[in-house]
Amino acid sequence: MSVMLAYRLHRFGGPEVFRPETIDAPEPVAGEVLIRVRAASANPVDIKTREGKYPLVGEEKLPYTLGRDCAGVVERVGDGVSEWKRGDEVYCFVGQGQGAYAELVTVDARALASRPSKADAVTAAAVPLVALTAWQGLFDHGALDAGQRVLIHAGAGGVGHFAVQFAKHKGAEVFVTASGDGIEFVRSLGADHVIDYRTQRFEDFARDMDLVFDLVGGETQGRSWAVVARGGAMVSTLTEPSQVDAANHGARAARYTARPDGAQLTRIAGLIDDAKIRVRVAQTYPFDAAGEALARLEKGHVHGKIVIDVTGSSATP
Ligand SMILES: NC(=O)c1ccc[n+]([C@@H]2O[C@H](COP(=O)([O-])OP(=O)(O)OC[C@H]3O[C@@H](n4cnc5c(N)ncnc54)[C@H](OP(=O)(O)O)[C@@H]3O)[C@@H](O)[C@H]2O)c1
Repeated sequence: MSVMLAYRLHRFGGPEVFRPETIDAPEPVAGEVLIRVRAASANPVDIKTREGKYPLVGEEKLPYTLGRDCAGVVERVGDGVSEWKRGDEVYCFVGQGQGAYAELVTVDARALASRPSKADAVTAAAVPLVALTAWQGLFDHGALDAGQRVLIHAGAGGVGHFAVQFAKHKGAEVFVTASGDGIEFVRSLGADHVIDYRTQRFEDFARDMDLVFDLVGGETQGRSWAVVARGGAMVSTLTEPSQVDAANHGARAARYTARPDGAQLTRIAGLIDDAKIRVRVAQTYPFDAAGEALARLEKGHVHGKIVIDVTGSSATP
């Protein structure tokens, strides 16, 4: 049995519980693929999980390897997998129970897609979790169509920067909340109307939205009912929207959890290769500084994505 380095939690807590250790490498079972990870991205869910605040990962899942998405190369395939072979360059949203902050990870073959050919591994690793979240929120749950109006809260973040571009590409009129440097950033992505949520009330600019895509929750979500059109929808990645408010506004409401989907990632890779969608990597950290990557994300105001280069070490000259 081979071994590998992985960031595995033995208990929940602050940055001190996030440490690399040498553990047995995973083996792909039937239907799975073993990937040698080149790069993995930092997501808010990693911090929530580390702190024991992510409902899908309780004490019974410990020890638990963090990291929800990656780009890498196929090392070996399990029984019944014919669509992938050793050496294929892939990227994916890793399912629950696996962890991408590791040198090797096993993934359900259906979650994989070929890495966009024009993106290097660090850039590709920035994509899967947030781009699938944006895609599924806008189109699967929000049913966004050409000519409709959408308000995207937190357009400059990881999910938001894909959501703005997907909505524009679909032909929607796109309203976005952002702040600071994020304002210019979302404009550069094609947002039609940018609202500085620190100094402006979005209710004064956005009206009759066919869809509010909520990446903030709480008070922002509550206030957003005022701008949803009758027959429109509120879709959130965070707080479960009130069905009572939805009924009062003649609208639909949903909270969802993004899921791995290799077919959707293949379409997204095509959009990246056709230069229809840009990926913003805000900062890259070597594998032995993965803790700093999470600390940077935790500090807030990240515009784009933080990526961990699993093949890199800070000792590398
Ligand atoms: N349910 C799911 O499956 C799922 C999947 C992915 C993500 N999520 C959740 O969705 C949220 C967004 O994820 P992410 O990866 O995009 O996070 P992120 O990269 O950390 O982005 C957060 C963004 O929120 C902006 N922001 C903060 N407060 C805001 C406000 N009041 N109004 C507008 N923008 C605001 C920040 O901009 P500034 O601070 O610079 O203004 C930052 O750009 C997270 O809470 C995450 O846990 C859920």
